[in-house]
Amino acid sequence: MAQYLFACGCGFVGRYLSRCLLAAGDEVVVLGNLSNSALTKLVPGCELLEGDVRKPDDVEAANSSSDVVFHLAAVASVGPSNRRWSKSHHTSQSGSAIVFEVAARSKVGHVVYASSAAVCGGNA
Ligand SMILES: NC(=O)c1ccc[n+]([C@@H]2O[C@H](COP(=O)([O-])OP(=O)(O)OC[C@H]3O[C@@H](n4cnc5c(N)ncnc54)[C@H](O)[C@@H]3O)[C@@H](O)[C@H]2O)c1
Repeated sequence: MAQYLFACGCGFVGRYLSRCLLAAGDEVVVLGNLSNSALTKLVPGCELLEGDVRKPDDVEAANSSSDVVFHLAAVASVGPSNRRWSKSHHTSQSGSAIVFEVAARSKVGHVVYASSAAVCGGNA
C-alpha cells in the first residue's frame, strides 16, 4: 500500500484520481486551501490537511510520509487566472517551486505535475 499526497485533491481532477487510488487500497492525503472547493467535495476515505501550497511549512507538514505527490493545486480556470495575475502567479509558480523543493528534500519518490494546454495559448 502506497501513500499519495494530493496538493490539492478536492478539485475536479483530484477527486477522480483519489477515488481510483482509494479503490486500489492506497492511502490518500489531501492538502488544500479549499479556495475553489467545498469540504463536502472531499472524497470519503481521504485525510484532509488544510493548508496552502504557497506556505512551505504547510507543504512540509503534509509531505512527511508520502511516497508520491500529485501537484494539482492551481487557479485552474483561464478567466480568473487572467483577472488575478498575482494570485495565479503565486499559486502556480511559487507554489510549484515549494512543492518540488520540499519533495526533493523528503523521501517522496515522484512528483506528478498537471500542467495545462493553456500554456500553449492559441497554438494548442
Ligand atoms: N480539468 C481539466 O480538464 C484539466 C486538464 C488539463 C490539466 N489540468 C490541470 O490540472 C490541475 C487541476 O485542475 P482541476 O480542473 O482539478 O482544477 P480545480 O480548480 O478543480 O482544482 C484546483 C484545486 O486547487 C486548490 N487550490 C488553489 N489554490 C491553492 C493553494 N494556494 N493551495 C492549495 N490548494 C489550492 C483549489 O481549492 C482546488 O481544489 C490544474 O493545474 C489544471 O491546469 C486540468
